[in-house]
Amino acid sequence: MKILIINGPNLNLLGKREPEIYGSQTFEQYFEELKAKYPIIELSYFQSNSEGVLIDKLHETGFSYDGIILNGGAYTHTSIAIADAIAAIKTPVVEVHISNVYAREAFRHHSYFSSNCKGVIVGLGIDGYRLALESFLK
Ligand code: DQA
Repeated sequence: MKILIINGPNLNLLGKREPEIYGSQTFEQYFEELKAKYPIIELSYFQSNSEGVLIDKLHETGFSYDGIILNGGAYTHTSIAIADAIAAIKTPVVEVHISNVYAREAFRHHSYFSSNCKGVIVGLGIDGYRLALESFLK
């Protein structure tokens, strides 16, 4: 089973960025733990701060992978182009947010992605990626 985790803008700074909101673990550390926990899954990770690069990655993997876990960062709240890419591909996408976006500013309450996703995991910290992964094993 091939699963890809995609992180969008500013998520390369996990561990350093607002740790009171996003935690103090780097994604690279967490990803190594995740890979060790699920050795049977072909798990890969991709991060970009650029909208077009994220869209290219969805196109490139979205017809062959079994699942994509996407934290689009702030593009979640702004990008119709990424929402269209999610709708265009065959691979199911689970949307993840580390923080509880509904307990934050109003502009974070709307996601352009959710209606095109298989499901959404919000506010459960970095462990949300593992929960999304589990959903593909069911
Ligand atoms: C985020 C929430 C977004 O509103 C924010 O722009 C992020 C991270 C989260 O994981 O909680 O960059 O997607």
